[in-house]
Amino acid sequence: MIIERLDGHDRSTFDCGVPELNDWLRTQAAQQQKRGNSATFVGADSEDGRVVGYYSSLAYRLDLDEVATAYGAGKRRYPMPAVLLARLAVCVSYRGKRAGEALLVHALSGAVDVADNVGVEVLVVHAIDKDAAAFYGRYGFTQFADHELHLFMPMKAIRSLVR
Ligand SMILES: CC(C)(COP(=O)(O)OP(=O)(O)OC[C@H]1O[C@@H](n2cnc3c(N)ncnc32)[C@H](O)[C@@H]1OP(=O)(O)O)[C@@H](O)C(=O)NCCC(=O)NCCS
Repeated sequence: MIIERLDGHDRSTFDCGVPELNDWLRTQAAQQQKRGNSATFVGADSEDGRVVGYYSSLAYRLDLDEVATAYGAGKRRYPMPAVLLARLAVCVSYRGKRAGEALLVHALSGAVDVADNVGVEVLVVHAIDKDAAAFYGRYGFTQFADHELHLFMPMKAIRSLVR
Protein backbone atom coordinates (compact mmCIF):
# COMPACT_ATOMS: atom_id res chain seq x y z
CA MET A 1 0.00 0.00 0.00
CA ILE A 2 1.23 3.48 -0.90
CA ILE A 3 -0.02 6.41 1.19
CA GLU A 4 -0.41 9.68 -0.71
CA ARG A 5 -2.44 12.87 -0.64
CA LEU A 6 -5.86 12.49 -2.28
CA ASP A 7 -5.50 13.69 -5.85
CA GLY A 8 -7.87 12.28 -8.45
CA HIS A 9 -7.76 8.73 -7.07
CA ASP A 10 -10.62 6.43 -8.07
CA ARG A 11 -12.56 5.89 -4.88
CA SER A 12 -15.91 4.88 -6.39
CA THR A 13 -15.62 1.29 -5.15
CA PHE A 14 -14.33 2.11 -1.66
CA ASP A 15 -16.36 0.27 0.98
CA CYS A 16 -15.38 0.23 4.65
CA GLY A 17 -18.82 -0.98 5.77
CA VAL A 18 -19.79 2.40 7.27
CA PRO A 19 -21.94 4.38 4.78
CA GLU A 20 -21.08 7.75 6.38
CA LEU A 21 -17.33 7.13 5.96
CA ASN A 22 -17.77 5.83 2.38
CA ASP A 23 -19.86 8.86 1.37
CA TRP A 24 -17.37 11.27 2.90
CA LEU A 25 -14.53 9.89 0.82
CA ARG A 26 -16.55 9.64 -2.37
CA THR A 27 -18.36 12.97 -2.29
CA GLN A 28 -16.83 15.34 0.28
CA ALA A 29 -13.14 14.73 0.82
CA ALA A 30 -11.81 16.28 -2.42
CA GLN A 31 -14.05 19.32 -2.14
CA GLN A 32 -13.14 19.96 1.50
CA GLN A 33 -9.46 19.54 0.72
CA LYS A 34 -9.71 22.11 -2.08
CA ARG A 35 -11.25 24.55 0.42
CA GLY A 36 -8.48 23.90 2.94
CA ASN A 37 -11.05 22.60 5.39
CA SER A 38 -9.42 19.19 5.80
CA ALA A 39 -6.63 17.14 4.24
CA THR A 40 -7.16 13.57 3.09
CA PHE A 41 -4.53 10.91 2.52
CA VAL A 42 -5.41 7.64 0.82
CA GLY A 43 -3.80 4.24 0.94
CA ALA A 44 -3.64 2.91 -2.63
CA ASP A 45 -3.04 -0.76 -3.39
CA SER A 46 0.52 -1.10 -4.74
CA GLU A 47 -0.64 -3.36 -7.58
CA ASP A 48 -3.88 -1.97 -8.97
CA GLY A 49 -3.92 1.51 -7.41
CA ARG A 50 -7.41 1.16 -5.94
CA VAL A 51 -8.08 3.10 -2.77
CA VAL A 52 -8.11 0.69 0.18
CA GLY A 53 -8.05 3.14 3.05
CA TYR A 54 -7.97 6.81 3.97
CA TYR A 55 -7.82 9.36 6.75
CA SER A 56 -8.82 13.01 6.98
CA SER A 57 -7.48 15.54 9.45
CA LEU A 58 -7.75 19.24 10.20
CA ALA A 59 -6.63 21.95 12.60
CA TYR A 60 -8.68 21.98 15.81
CA ARG A 61 -8.74 23.41 19.29
CA LEU A 62 -9.98 22.30 22.65
CA ASP A 63 -11.81 24.96 24.60
CA LEU A 64 -11.10 25.36 28.29
CA ASP A 65 -14.06 23.23 29.42
CA GLU A 66 -12.97 20.41 27.09
CA VAL A 67 -9.40 20.62 28.34
CA ALA A 68 -10.72 20.44 31.88
CA THR A 69 -12.80 17.31 31.20
CA ALA A 70 -10.07 15.62 29.16
CA TYR A 71 -7.13 16.45 31.41
CA GLY A 72 -8.90 16.90 34.74
CA ALA A 73 -9.00 20.70 35.19
CA GLY A 74 -5.86 22.75 35.85
CA LYS A 75 -5.25 26.48 35.69
CA ARG A 76 -5.05 27.02 31.95
CA ARG A 77 -6.12 30.37 30.61
CA TYR A 78 -6.00 29.55 26.92
CA PRO A 79 -7.59 26.96 24.65
CA MET A 80 -5.39 24.04 23.62
CA PRO A 81 -4.22 23.94 19.97
CA ALA A 82 -4.85 20.53 18.42
CA VAL A 83 -4.98 18.40 15.31
CA LEU A 84 -8.21 16.47 14.78
CA LEU A 85 -8.07 13.08 13.11
CA ALA A 86 -11.69 13.15 12.06
CA ARG A 87 -11.95 10.02 9.92
CA LEU A 88 -9.94 6.90 9.24
CA ALA A 89 -11.21 3.79 7.46
CA VAL A 90 -10.05 0.69 5.63
CA CYS A 91 -11.91 -1.31 2.94
CA VAL A 92 -13.68 -4.38 4.30
CA SER A 93 -11.76 -6.54 1.81
CA TYR A 94 -8.42 -5.16 3.04
CA ARG A 95 -8.92 -5.53 6.82
CA GLY A 96 -6.38 -7.17 9.07
CA LYS A 97 -3.35 -6.35 6.90
CA ARG A 98 -2.18 -3.49 9.13
CA ALA A 99 -3.44 -0.86 6.68
CA GLY A 100 -5.31 0.87 9.52
CA GLU A 101 -2.15 0.96 11.59
CA ALA A 102 -0.06 2.29 8.67
CA LEU A 103 -2.61 5.06 8.02
CA LEU A 104 -2.70 5.97 11.72
CA VAL A 105 1.10 6.14 11.96
CA HIS A 106 1.18 8.29 8.80
CA ALA A 107 -1.41 10.64 10.33
CA LEU A 108 0.55 10.88 13.60
CA SER A 109 3.83 11.56 11.77
CA GLY A 110 2.11 14.28 9.75
CA ALA A 111 0.80 15.85 12.95
CA VAL A 112 4.34 15.89 14.39
CA ASP A 113 5.55 17.67 11.23
CA VAL A 114 2.80 20.26 11.69
CA ALA A 115 3.68 20.64 15.38
CA ASP A 116 7.30 21.34 14.42
CA ASN A 117 6.09 24.47 12.66
CA VAL A 118 2.85 25.50 14.37
CA GLY A 119 1.93 25.11 18.04
CA VAL A 120 0.00 21.88 18.62
CA GLU A 121 -0.31 20.26 22.04
CA VAL A 122 -2.60 17.34 21.43
CA LEU A 123 -4.10 15.13 18.74
CA VAL A 124 -7.79 14.36 19.08
CA VAL A 125 -9.66 11.54 17.35
CA HIS A 126 -13.40 11.27 16.86
CA ALA A 127 -14.22 7.56 16.67
CA ILE A 128 -17.31 6.51 14.74
CA ASP A 129 -18.31 3.85 17.29
CA LYS A 130 -17.05 1.83 20.27
CA ASP A 131 -15.10 -0.57 18.02
CA ALA A 132 -13.23 2.31 16.45
CA ALA A 133 -12.52 3.74 19.91
CA ALA A 134 -11.07 0.34 20.91
CA PHE A 135 -8.77 0.47 17.87
CA TYR A 136 -7.38 3.85 18.97
CA GLY A 137 -7.15 2.67 22.56
CA ARG A 138 -4.64 0.00 21.48
CA TYR A 139 -2.22 2.76 20.49
CA GLY A 140 -2.43 4.63 23.79
CA PHE A 141 -5.19 7.14 23.13
CA THR A 142 -7.15 8.20 26.23
CA GLN A 143 -10.90 8.68 26.27
CA PHE A 144 -12.34 12.07 27.19
CA ALA A 145 -13.99 11.84 30.60
CA ASP A 146 -17.33 13.02 29.18
CA HIS A 147 -17.31 11.38 25.73
CA GLU A 148 -16.30 7.77 25.13
CA LEU A 149 -15.93 8.25 21.35
CA HIS A 150 -13.58 11.23 21.65
CA LEU A 151 -9.98 10.35 22.48
CA PHE A 152 -6.71 12.25 22.70
CA MET A 153 -2.96 11.81 22.84
CA PRO A 154 -0.50 14.60 23.80
CA MET A 155 1.97 15.51 21.03
CA LYS A 156 4.80 14.64 23.42
CA ALA A 157 3.64 11.00 23.53
CA ILE A 158 3.08 10.96 19.77
CA ARG A 159 6.62 12.18 19.17
CA SER A 160 8.06 9.32 21.17
CA LEU A 161 5.78 6.87 19.33
CA VAL A 162 6.68 7.86 15.77
CA ARG A 163 10.17 9.40 16.00
C1 LIG B 1 -10.69 0.22 12.59
C2 LIG B 1 -10.04 -0.09 11.21
C3 LIG B 1 -9.53 1.20 10.61
C4 LIG B 1 -8.89 -1.11 11.43
O1 LIG B 1 -8.26 -1.34 10.17
P1 LIG B 1 -7.39 -2.65 9.85
O2 LIG B 1 -6.54 -2.34 8.69
O3 LIG B 1 -8.27 -3.84 9.76
O4 LIG B 1 -6.52 -2.78 11.18
P2 LIG B 1 -5.00 -3.29 11.29
O5 LIG B 1 -4.84 -4.54 10.48
O6 LIG B 1 -4.07 -2.18 11.00
O7 LIG B 1 -4.95 -3.65 12.84
C5 LIG B 1 -3.92 -3.23 13.70
C6 LIG B 1 -4.21 -3.77 15.10
O8 LIG B 1 -5.46 -3.22 15.56
C7 LIG B 1 -6.37 -4.28 15.91
N1 LIG B 1 -7.72 -3.86 15.57
C8 LIG B 1 -8.25 -3.70 14.34
N2 LIG B 1 -9.53 -3.26 14.45
C9 LIG B 1 -9.80 -3.16 15.77
C10 LIG B 1 -10.94 -2.76 16.51
N3 LIG B 1 -12.06 -2.39 15.92
N4 LIG B 1 -10.85 -2.78 17.86
C11 LIG B 1 -9.71 -3.15 18.49
N5 LIG B 1 -8.59 -3.53 17.83
C12 LIG B 1 -8.65 -3.53 16.49
C13 LIG B 1 -5.89 -5.48 15.09
O9 LIG B 1 -6.30 -6.69 15.68
C14 LIG B 1 -4.39 -5.28 15.12
O10 LIG B 1 -3.92 -5.72 16.37
P3 LIG B 1 -2.63 -6.71 16.60
O11 LIG B 1 -1.47 -5.75 16.68
O12 LIG B 1 -2.89 -7.39 17.87
O13 LIG B 1 -2.58 -7.61 15.41
C15 LIG B 1 -11.08 -0.77 10.27
O14 LIG B 1 -11.65 -1.88 10.92
C16 LIG B 1 -12.22 0.13 9.81
O15 LIG B 1 -12.08 0.84 8.82
N6 LIG B 1 -13.38 0.10 10.49
C17 LIG B 1 -14.54 0.85 10.07
C18 LIG B 1 -14.37 2.33 10.24
C19 LIG B 1 -13.79 2.73 11.57
O16 LIG B 1 -14.13 2.16 12.59
N7 LIG B 1 -12.88 3.74 11.56
C20 LIG B 1 -12.17 4.19 12.74
C21 LIG B 1 -12.27 5.59 13.10
S1 LIG B 1 -13.61 6.61 12.55
